[in-house]
Amino acid sequence: MKNNKKLWALAAGLLAAVMPAFGQGKDWALYGGEGGRRFSSLAQITRANVSKLEQAWRFDMAEMGDPQTHPLAVGGIVYAYTPSLDTIALDGATGKLKWRFHSGVKAGGPQRGLSIWGKGKAQRLFAAAGTYLYALDPATGKPLADFGEAGRIDLRAGLGRDVDKISLALTAPGTIWRDIIIMGFRTDESAPAAPGDIRAFDVYSGKLRWSFHTIPHPGEPGHESWPTDYWKTGGGANSWPGMVLDDKRGIVFAPTGSAVSDFYGANRTGENLYANSLLALDANTGKLLWHFQGVHHDVADRDFPSPPVLLTVTHNCKRIYAVAQATKQGYLFVLDRITGKPLFPMIEMQVAQSELEKLSPTQSVPSLPAPYARQHLSESLLTNRTPQAHAWAVEQFHSFANDGPFPHMRLGQQTLVFPGFDGGAEWGGQASANGILYLNANDVAWTGGLVENSAASGLGAGLYQDNCAACHGPDRKGAAPAFPSLVDSKLTAEQMADVVHSGRGRMPAFALQGDSLSSLLTFVRSGEDRELAAKPAGDNHPAYRFTGYRKFLDPDGYPAVTPPWGTLSAIDLNSGAYLWRIPLGEYPALADKSTGSENYGGPILTKGGVLFIAATLYDKKIRAFDPQDGKLLWQAQLPYAGNATPITYMAGGRQYVLIQADNARDKKSPQGAAYVAFALTAKVRP
Ligand code: HEC
Repeated sequence: MKNNKKLWALAAGLLAAVMPAFGQGKDWALYGGEGGRRFSSLAQITRANVSKLEQAWRFDMAEMGDPQTHPLAVGGIVYAYTPSLDTIALDGATGKLKWRFHSGVKAGGPQRGLSIWGKGKAQRLFAAAGTYLYALDPATGKPLADFGEAGRIDLRAGLGRDVDKISLALTAPGTIWRDIIIMGFRTDESAPAAPGDIRAFDVYSGKLRWSFHTIPHPGEPGHESWPTDYWKTGGGANSWPGMVLDDKRGIVFAPTGSAVSDFYGANRTGENLYANSLLALDANTGKLLWHFQGVHHDVADRDFPSPPVLLTVTHNCKRIYAVAQATKQGYLFVLDRITGKPLFPMIEMQVAQSELEKLSPTQSVPSLPAPYARQHLSESLLTNRTPQAHAWAVEQFHSFANDGPFPHMRLGQQTLVFPGFDGGAEWGGQASANGILYLNANDVAWTGGLVENSAASGLGAGLYQDNCAACHGPDRKGAAPAFPSLVDSKLTAEQMADVVHSGRGRMPAFALQGDSLSSLLTFVRSGEDRELAAKPAGDNHPAYRFTGYRKFLDPDGYPAVTPPWGTLSAIDLNSGAYLWRIPLGEYPALADKSTGSENYGGPILTKGGVLFIAATLYDKKIRAFDPQDGKLLWQAQLPYAGNATPITYMAGGRQYVLIQADNARDKKSPQGAAYVAFALTAKVRP
């Protein structure tokens, strides 16, 4: 018996070794693909013929925004979103609109995918708009009345908070296991924010089936890692990048983000479990199987930014079911999927301490693989693009505090954050086959700091400081070019209200109404505070707040550090070694085409032996690389930046590669949004 088991394990291991990871057939039916590997078993497009790939169709949306959507394709139909978060169904072969579902909810911002459940007539398509999860009939786009209230549930409900006081959004689709859909969400990064409960809902009725408190309640393990009552008022530790299911074992892997507020945690003393953690939950019950915390008591917004990737590797001659979790810091944690134990030795790193609060004295970082983004900014890494830019960068650099890879914020001084607030890795995720991980990353510096909270006493100013100052600055002057100045805005009050309600680009939507909204807009437009109101009580209102996310750019708007500013790597997780690493992206205006650029959106991989990725911000290209050596096989110009993860699928006997594109992150370029599909013409198809 025992021997039999061993034999079986050996056979299964051998099979896994020779067979390519099981793809998704003709469809792309799952956000991020099976096991989050972004792998397709399609092979009509190959390494040999990909250079002949041509645009097959383009679906333009007469809307601006940044949905960052990684669509689904099932039975030749593409399911996706418009920038205002209408759900759409397109004919996968022609791009013709089949239906469009307009929820009536004012919504915008990223909504990176959808989920589909069931087969045939019983199929349900789960789509989001604002705070609502909808169950739609995939054939018609009509809400299914038996789900929740008239086809939708409000995810703000049931979190133990006043529904009107919290804002949340569904940035990633739910994960389906049997007849439940498991949901995380994005919430505010400053108080008041929703607690990041991970919840499972019945796919038929929308009723809650289980809930896991990422900020544990009394009696639950991990509660001791917070102040006793924090769970009542605190927020965050939410899972926004999307989860991944091991359906053989019934385990759902959920990455979580920081606790609120992101940059100052004196009111949340302790390690803050399960913020900044990878959680393995029993998909049936929501019971915690294990956790791995990437940052203890985070004060630098070091969310786990990508869904994890499930893969099989060989370590010490043993096949191991592993899970790889990418980070903003440039570390890749490779863990045993069953036990949560790291597969490579960990190093306990001493980290800089703050004068404002007690931080963890050490953080654990993996010895392998080596970080995929630089860790320490020094003078030798400051830009040499021009002598002027260099001199400017040196002066700025010496004005900043520099803590290395685990920064904390200070009063009256900016602290370097390198890699920046947007990674390292980001939400696009990674692709994988045969134990190799293909990962794109940013490699630029940002800065941040703190100001005293007392600057705002009135309602308008208070709301502004709580909701807007992190991006638009305490003085409303923004931080060009990423965050516009509101002092110089040409918008009318009505147009501003519209932006606040719908969100735009990186700006989330806010559900502010009535007095709150008008006081806020008065303050935004005039700097005057109309109504005086008491500051919200409760110990979740910290003494300091963030001065805003600032990119460390030179006076011409280029990163103030040396290139590469964006990279694509192939990392063998059997050995922890890099197989190759190349700059990803160009600045069209620069003569040097090897700088790489910031990139948002991930890669996919096909059995045809091709890696597809767009993601680059400024050159607006989609590219195909050879996964064996990183050689460029094909590239095409997109109408806008492909800041999303592509998909591939079959329709009418043809393999398509589809990407969503928009210019929301590059305001200097023409604005718009589209889906663009590529395929081989009949002449060159095998
Ligand atoms: C997470 C960062 C972030 C937060 C928080 C944020 N914004 Fe924004 N906001 C942006 C970005 C980025 C843009 C530019 C978006 C675009 O055009 O793609 C923007 C644009 C705007 C604009 C349009 C400006 C113009 O002239 O076009 C207004 C008005 C605005 N924000 C107001 C607010 C208010 C009021 C709040 C607080 C309730 C707020 N924002 C919170 C990031 C943010």
